[in-house]
Amino acid sequence: MKPAFYVTTPIYYVNDVPHIGHAYTTLAADVVARYKRLKGFDVFFLTGTDEHGQKVEKAANAAGETPLELADRVMKRFQALWEKLEISHTDFIRTTQERHKNGVAALFQRVLDKGDIYLGEYEDWYCTPCETFWTETQLIDFKCPDCNRPTEKLKEESYFFRMSKYQDQLLAHIDANPDFIQPKSRRNEILSFVKEGLRDLSVSRTTFQWGIPVPGNEKHVVYVWFDALANYITALGYPDESGNFATYWPADVHLIGKDILRFHAVYWPTFLMAAELPIPKRVFAHGWWTVEGQKMSKSLQNVVEPNMLVDKYGVDAVRYFLLREVPFGLDGDFSHQALIHRINSDLANDLGNLLNRSTAMLGKYFAGVLPDPSEETALDATYREKTSSMVVQVDGLLEDLAFSKALQSIWEVISAGNKYIDETAPWVLAKDPAQKERLATVMYYMLESQRIVYFLLSAFMPKTAEKGLCYLGWTETPDDQGLVWGGLKPGTVIAKAEALFPRIEEKGE
Ligand code: MSP
Repeated sequence: MKPAFYVTTPIYYVNDVPHIGHAYTTLAADVVARYKRLKGFDVFFLTGTDEHGQKVEKAANAAGETPLELADRVMKRFQALWEKLEISHTDFIRTTQERHKNGVAALFQRVLDKGDIYLGEYEDWYCTPCETFWTETQLIDFKCPDCNRPTEKLKEESYFFRMSKYQDQLLAHIDANPDFIQPKSRRNEILSFVKEGLRDLSVSRTTFQWGIPVPGNEKHVVYVWFDALANYITALGYPDESGNFATYWPADVHLIGKDILRFHAVYWPTFLMAAELPIPKRVFAHGWWTVEGQKMSKSLQNVVEPNMLVDKYGVDAVRYFLLREVPFGLDGDFSHQALIHRINSDLANDLGNLLNRSTAMLGKYFAGVLPDPSEETALDATYREKTSSMVVQVDGLLEDLAFSKALQSIWEVISAGNKYIDETAPWVLAKDPAQKERLATVMYYMLESQRIVYFLLSAFMPKTAEKGLCYLGWTETPDDQGLVWGGLKPGTVIAKAEALFPRIEEKGE
């Protein structure tokens, strides 16, 4: 049986349309999912939409729609974008689905039965856009410390979750599992937050309707974060703990942005502790994208629309750029110029050119039929070993979600390929019939190294990898066994590759 692997994205609010920030998390999760499948794992990859809460209710009112109409409309935009970006998710959960609503009610009931949810009264400062309550001391000039928008004082009857009770257990868990919260800097932030003391958390609302009713007290709806976080288990069939839940839970990794780390690294694990369910193995918080140096916002009208990017530059260029440009975990800046530069230099020049020139040479010197390699020289051995050690390196780097470094490591082999050709100078060898065997070895090495490169690239740029492999006469789906040297069979017919990435004029936009 294949080992199971479960990766998730956040579920996206439907009051906003998808932008590159959303695309980024989902792409990262897709690379993880594709790579794990390549390595022989049975992958469950979940994404979806977060459709309840006051924010969605307000957006729907403003648009003259019901919340569900709004959700139906915007959810489709997310789904269409994921298709366009070649996202290979296993399931798409919507929090308005029955399976989710049942699961949330069951989870709430379970914690309630345990005595860890109780009815009380709430009075505090509420930030509607963030759906978060703040104490007066946390406010900055009576504004939300996260988004700097005005807050309002709310008093309401509320159910509370005894989060304070789980403070020590959570600290012990974070201590015992150094990889639970990543990157490390974020882990330290969470540690100091928890050490300052956890308050009980309000987990129901009576001030609006658009949500999942609290079991047994329909005046209340379940707090949107309790509702949303539960998606990671309701999609697996919870409260049924057999089937997918048994196979995939706990999640191997929740991929999220840094702004929602506290919900995932404090609230979620303590809810699960109360419900006596296993804690996810890892939560990784990536950084935020700015655009041409500025915060992305509707009011600045600088929101980068992924559909437009894909139409303009192609899906794989966008996939490559977002994961290559910025180390995962750090903030980054998006600019068209940087994207165009990456396309021209990394994709057109380095990657595309290598395939193009090497397949052209095979056509010219061996009529496109891959010859048998003969004796290996020190130069060949170095190139072969570099290719094989890249496979090991990339494995370790992807384990750490270091996408950019993994791509760098692949690109070192691509550059080594271009250098190998320059050093072995096949055009000189071709002039001397006595060097035919030497020329054959050079041809084999430069093409076999690229086969392995495209195997790894299938996680990052599925279409490009498929094209590259097709030129190399490889028609099977890349798999783990194929990551070792020697897969290309002599006698294979290899076609001359067209440009994989045409160069783009560098004149800004
Ligand atoms: N609905 C909640 C998540 C619930 S998960 C149980 C939510 N949704 S969101 O649509 O507002 O944001 C989803 C993700 O997009 C977050 O991980 C957030 O970090 C990410 N991003 C939003 N803007 C971003 C950038 N400008 N850059 C990078 N990621 C950003 O929060």
